[in-house]
Amino acid sequence: MSLENDKEIEAYILSHIDEEGELLRELNRDAHVNLLKPRMLSGHLQGRMLKMFCRMMQPRFILEIGTYTAYATLCMAEGAADDAEIHTIEVNDELEDFIMKYLHKTKLGDKIHLHIGDAEEIIPKLDYTFDLVFIDANKRHYVEYYDLVFDKVRPGGLIIADNTLWDGHVLETAKPSDKQTIGIQRFNDVIVQDTRVEKVILPVRDGLTLIWKK
Ligand SMILES: C[S@@+](CC[C@H](N)C(=O)[O-])C[C@H]1O[C@@H](n2cnc3c(N)ncnc32)[C@H](O)[C@@H]1O
Repeated sequence: MSLENDKEIEAYILSHIDEEGELLRELNRDAHVNLLKPRMLSGHLQGRMLKMFCRMMQPRFILEIGTYTAYATLCMAEGAADDAEIHTIEVNDELEDFIMKYLHKTKLGDKIHLHIGDAEEIIPKLDYTFDLVFIDANKRHYVEYYDLVFDKVRPGGLIIADNTLWDGHVLETAKPSDKQTIGIQRFNDVIVQDTRVEKVILPVRDGLTLIWKK
């Protein structure tokens, strides 16, 4: 039995960890009613984990690549100190109104800077040294995001990459047309060979890789 995928265990976990809170519950419901692919948002368990990482690390500068609804962004803002800055990049400008509606509902929004545009164009323009980076945008381009961001992460900083087990498809021989699976496999193969970092894959949700820069 895989504990992570067992519905009863999942329900048990969610009833024995911190609640996500009313704002995130409302955002989650709103996304399920009004947005395409609401499953993309981090959700209760992963959201509490991202908050906990921020509690433990106390990052001053955070970068998120792939905002979607700002669910994860708000979770990281909850755990980060009052003077933290979270830069989050989203290519889909149709999400801007949804995102800003929720950033304006809470003081946490003051820590969050939304950049609308392609991450590969925006990252080179961000002149910060990041303590924490959350990679969660186009699965085809994870290696490019990693390469672009690496020198902007401080030694001792953490890069978290989401969906690195890709619903188990990482085990398959991907069809040439399945660029997302190929992108994730390529990323995992690059990370395991990279001696500049320590890494571990957590089999939580869709796979979460923690990459610590030496
Ligand atoms: C999985 S969702 C992000 C979920 C969010 N991080 C969370 O955990 O709640 C991926 C998002 O990345 C965005 N995206 C895809 N390609 C992008 C790019 N090149 N630059 C910036 N954002 C991109 C998509 O539009 C989508 O909203």
